Amino acid sequence: VNRYFSNNTYFRTYVFKKFGLWNVCAFIILIMIIDGKKEAEVLREEIKKEIISIKNKTNKSPALTVILVGDFAPSQIYVKNKEKISKEVGINSNVIKYPKDVSEEEILKKIKELNNDKNVSGILVQLPLPDQISKEKVINLIDPLKDVDGFSPINVGNLASGYNAIVPCTPLGCLLLLKKVEKNLSGKHAVIIGRSNLNGKPLAQLLLKENCTVTITHSKTKNLKEECLKADILIAAVGVANLVKKDWVKSGSVIIDVGINKQGDKIVGDVNFEEVKDKVKAITPVPGGVGPMTIACLLKNTLECFKARLT
Ligand code: GUN
Repeated sequence: VNRYFSNNTYFRTYVFKKFGLWNVCAFIILIMIIDGKKEAEVLREEIKKEIISIKNKTNKSPALTVILVGDFAPSQIYVKNKEKISKEVGINSNVIKYPKDVSEEEILKKIKELNNDKNVSGILVQLPLPDQISKEKVINLIDPLKDVDGFSPINVGNLASGYNAIVPCTPLGCLLLLKKVEKNLSGKHAVIIGRSNLNGKPLAQLLLKENCTVTITHSKTKNLKEECLKADILIAAVGVANLVKKDWVKSGSVIIDVGINKQGDKIVGDVNFEEVKDKVKAITPVPGGVGPMTIACLLKNTLECFKARLT
């Protein structure tokens, strides 16, 4: 549309006459690329201000401890980012690194120690873990009040029950972005592709709490495309590059793309952005959509854990 408007005076005059200038402008504005980078910046700024204000009153700051096991390259990059951005907002970040053959016993011992350390506000064990360490044991052991990932069964259960809970960072980021473009989610049909504990399941709980009608789909779902076509809100969190095509989405729907997939030297989402973007009301790009919000929500969770202990 933009290209036509700038290149074709005849087309512009025709379109404005037929549909009215304001309707055309509204149509253009309504195709919204959700700027996760900007929203994350705003959220980080709010967090930073609150941390400064608390520090001025109490002389205390939040502290996040991250446990990183092994040399899995993506984990190393994520953790480095988390550390850098934490420091920027005034969170004391401490990364404890272990070699990939560390014993489960040693990791569990460290978690107990961190649970009992009153100077530690939040604990994050970066996943995946090597085979000799049980993810289940690790997640179960982290104090639910320091569980900044929101993975512990207490937080998962509280979220599912609609009680106060620490909410996993990526789903929380998705909800905050959704609310920027859809003020009232009540009654909307949300379709989620993916049923992971990290994304799909907590997203479903969050959207139920907002009174959405929620469908969770996954690799065994029959007629996946038809299910997606019913969505007012489509959230793709499945890890398959460009899975969602133009003919999978309803006109005017909102698309949240959680996927981060490597394709050659490019990072692409689970949604074919170029195909889909002109058909929908709003869409998150990859990169620059959900990703930056995930880290900002980790900072938010760390601050909440810190505040809960400030008495
Ligand atoms: N690995 C990939 N994503 C995450 C996350 O959100 N939390 C943790 N702990 N590990 C991850």
